[in-house]
Amino acid sequence: MKVEPAGALVGHIAVPGDKSISHRAVLIGALSDGDTTVRGFGRAADTESTIAAVRTLGVEVDEVSVDELVVHGVGLRGLRAPDAAIDCGNAGTLIRLLAGILAGQSGRFELTGDDSLRSRPMDRVAEPLQRMGAGVSTMDGHAPLVIEGTAALKGIDYALPVASAQVKSAVLLAGINADGTTTVVEPAPTRDHTELLLAAAGASVRRRPGSVSIEPAGRLELGEVTVPGDFSAAAPFVVAATLLAGSELTIHDVGLNPRRTGLLDVLERMGARITIFNRRKVGGELVGDLEVHSAELTATDITAEDVPRLVDELPLFALAAAVARGDSRLTGAGELRLKETDRIESVTNGLKAVGLRIRAHDDGFEVRGVPARPTGGRMSSDGDHRVAMLAAVAGLVSREGVEVGDADAVAISFPGFYDLLDSVSRR
Ligand code: S3P
Repeated sequence: MKVEPAGALVGHIAVPGDKSISHRAVLIGALSDGDTTVRGFGRAADTESTIAAVRTLGVEVDEVSVDELVVHGVGLRGLRAPDAAIDCGNAGTLIRLLAGILAGQSGRFELTGDDSLRSRPMDRVAEPLQRMGAGVSTMDGHAPLVIEGTAALKGIDYALPVASAQVKSAVLLAGINADGTTTVVEPAPTRDHTELLLAAAGASVRRRPGSVSIEPAGRLELGEVTVPGDFSAAAPFVVAATLLAGSELTIHDVGLNPRRTGLLDVLERMGARITIFNRRKVGGELVGDLEVHSAELTATDITAEDVPRLVDELPLFALAAAVARGDSRLTGAGELRLKETDRIESVTNGLKAVGLRIRAHDDGFEVRGVPARPTGGRMSSDGDHRVAMLAAVAGLVSREGVEVGDADAVAISFPGFYDLLDSVSRR
């Protein structure tokens, strides 16, 4: 796929439903009593893995339309152990949250995934779930995971060793079927969609600064979930419109949960011109329309405490920094090495290949900003959806375009990405 240089991004768009919330709506819907209608479902390869997984566990899901589902919940302990392994595909959120859910179900469950997922750390969920009393074994810390669920889970107090919403969520989801209170302490605020949806489903969730506790639930009932647009899917458009002079782009109905929108704060610090209109709450989530005008950016630094609020947008930050005035630095982001690819390597190698000046560090990167269009060239996604989208934005802002290798990886979170980008690109 060749992405040609663009002059500007102009128009009005909407992006698919939030991936994190879509996974959670299906999973918590499966544990609910009665039906859950999910509107604005973000259909993509990852979230389809979640539909397939709950079906394997005995849950019926009606696909009313592309973005509307009805999940027929089987109740808190109603999942059935299948004979075969459950394939989580590329989806880290699915395998880790499902591990937490299955810890409290009776039976033996095997969870696996593609090569990328099987290379990612799973001891981070195995360890707390074992402490709660579930049998969880890994292959040297990786999937396949085998879970021997138990009806006798115990609530624990758990201090997360890394800031991870997936691990926090796994422990909380196990906590709804445990005996006693479960508390998770986080080193930095991570996305809280699990807490919000569990509370909406009637669970007793108590939030304090730096921690969250959950009580065992008698039953859950979600009823209806309206999923806002995915901020992480909007982010490539926000960055491209900022970098292309003359852009004027509005992205409607974007989820603006403050634990997701760190990129807006960082871009604002760099001089971006982004305005939020129609700020409102949908379900428990903040939503709004983003109006983006192009702007000239200056360098900034990002440190560990900022990282969870823009963890999936750090590849895009690298590009913005590389065409800003001055030198930028990211530290405290060692977690990037444990994503769908080692994103410190895939991002720095990719951006260097199109003529940008960036150097990898153990836990981040250092960028020499040059406020001009990079040459372009070929950049491989290495099968990573976020890197593919980064390469496409690099193509738009380049002089000669970027050939995106393994471009289809976008289907993991955003199958219509290139068409939508094309629809607002002006030469
Ligand atoms: C996610 C949490 C983050 C994020 C991932 C989605 C979630 O991962 O990178 O894309 O939905 O909970 P970690 O929990 O590993 O930080």
